[in-house]
Amino acid sequence: MSLVSNLPSREKRAWWRDAVTYQIYIRSFSDSNGDGKGDVEGIRARLPYLKALGVDAIWITPWYPSPQNDHGYDVADYMDIEPDYGTLDDAKRLIDEAHLMGIRMIVDIVPNHSSDQHKWFQEALLAAPGSKERDRYIFRDGKGPNGDIPPNNWNAVFGGSAWHRITEPDGKPGQWYLHLFAVEQPDFNWENSEVRQYFERVLRFWLDLGVDGFRIDVAHGMIKAEGLPDQPAPGSPEMLAAVSMPFWDQDGVHEIYRSWRKILDSYPGDRMAVAEAWVSPASRIARYLRPDELANSFNFDFLTSKWEAKTLRERIDGSIAAISEVGAPASWVFNNHDVVRSVDRFALGLTPGTGDTTLDRHGDSAKLDIRVGVARARAGALLMLALPGGAYIYQGEELTLPEVRDIPEDRLTDPRWKMSGYTDKGRDGCRVPIPWTMKEESGFGFSHQNTMGIEETWLPQPKWWGSYSVESQEKDQDSSLAMYRKALSIRRSESGLGDGPMKWVELGDDLLAFERPGDFLCVVNFGKEAPLPQGDVILSSGPLDGGKIPSDTAVWMRISH
Ligand code: GLC
Repeated sequence: MSLVSNLPSREKRAWWRDAVTYQIYIRSFSDSNGDGKGDVEGIRARLPYLKALGVDAIWITPWYPSPQNDHGYDVADYMDIEPDYGTLDDAKRLIDEAHLMGIRMIVDIVPNHSSDQHKWFQEALLAAPGSKERDRYIFRDGKGPNGDIPPNNWNAVFGGSAWHRITEPDGKPGQWYLHLFAVEQPDFNWENSEVRQYFERVLRFWLDLGVDGFRIDVAHGMIKAEGLPDQPAPGSPEMLAAVSMPFWDQDGVHEIYRSWRKILDSYPGDRMAVAEAWVSPASRIARYLRPDELANSFNFDFLTSKWEAKTLRERIDGSIAAISEVGAPASWVFNNHDVVRSVDRFALGLTPGTGDTTLDRHGDSAKLDIRVGVARARAGALLMLALPGGAYIYQGEELTLPEVRDIPEDRLTDPRWKMSGYTDKGRDGCRVPIPWTMKEESGFGFSHQNTMGIEETWLPQPKWWGSYSVESQEKDQDSSLAMYRKALSIRRSESGLGDGPMKWVELGDDLLAFERPGDFLCVVNFGKEAPLPQGDVILSSGPLDGGKIPSDTAVWMRISH
């Protein structure tokens, strides 16, 4: 029996139930003025590339004025554009032009913390303990007779204590403020109604400018447990904590999202928000996706899975079961600007929860077989794009870029490097500026030539970068880029893909096979060479060996019942 969907057609349901969204890490995507850093005009120049790739939406990482201690995730002004990246007029032009091309626009909102250069934090430093200015952030007196012991044992995600002691305006050592991330990123106090109202204004500001949605940074972090009780064990917390933490996934966050949903719904055109909520199991994710809360939440259970049929299948089943309870679509993701690129992860077999996590930059490079990683990443892409719901792709994923593991230490910029006491190299290796051309000039085409000349790219690019470039992959019909373009175009024309039902087909323990409406079959082979099922091949992630599927290969097929 063929599988049939009983959902309204794709044109009739909200776009975010099916969308493939492309994440742009603005600093590293495309540089229009030759200063070695990406910018808004650079993105605009590349819209035709994104159109040809076939994505439905783009999400741009924070583009607001920022001292760039955490590359924009330390926001100094939520209602403007970083001068290095352009102007509000440039942003408006980009939004309008993307819309004309049928591409939706999602911006990143960072509500858990601001930059220490934000006007409010500067005011708080000058104001007295207990003042309304201090109450917008989380200031506390220290413990001990001299107040020199931090208020509790919380650690920052990037390393070290999550508390920093300030010097009061009178020059004396004073109160402490909370920063779950870098010292320069003080946490807002979301119990304060002024903070809530401020962010509602920020949402409206960008909605009025025309954006289709928001990616909510650290969406599981804004509310802290009452009384700020100690964390259960010492050490830097993982974003995806194995045990309950007093600063992650507190019930109070949901009230915020209910109020945000009302704002989103008051605008026409299915405006949406996607949560960066590192929570597990899937039933906890589903809580962010209740009908009166958010549209999407990244599936980090999927991202942190090993390249292993059994684990992936369990996590796919768990996610689909949990989110179908609340009527939400899945949001699959393998890569973003915070994790080691999937090519490396899949090649090295990095596993979460063993100290060898996706956040680990120190996997053994000697063991890395890049061809295996690329084959798996390509197969994983066809798996992800055939699953029910939407998907998020990170820039360079369509080129199967590997992690850059040998950035010289003196060029590392991620605050993790310093805050971990120089033990964790941080996330720069997945943020290296994109190679557009084969030749090394102008940062492999990252920086467009202008009369001022070209400055060095903000992170160095490796010598071999050009072989992964857009230019070289456009010349090769078997390239990863060519595969992504075909896959996204097929996804558009296959009405059974995107949101809707799926049914597992049992082909053995090492194969994941499932059917989608329209007699569409996706098969992924995690084991040794296996026989190809009966049917017509639509697309494969690598060469097929006669009637066989080689290992680490995925196939899309039309079958007959
Ligand atoms: C999120 C961002 C990450 C940033 C952190 C603090 O996890 O994705 O890049 O460092 O929040 O804002």
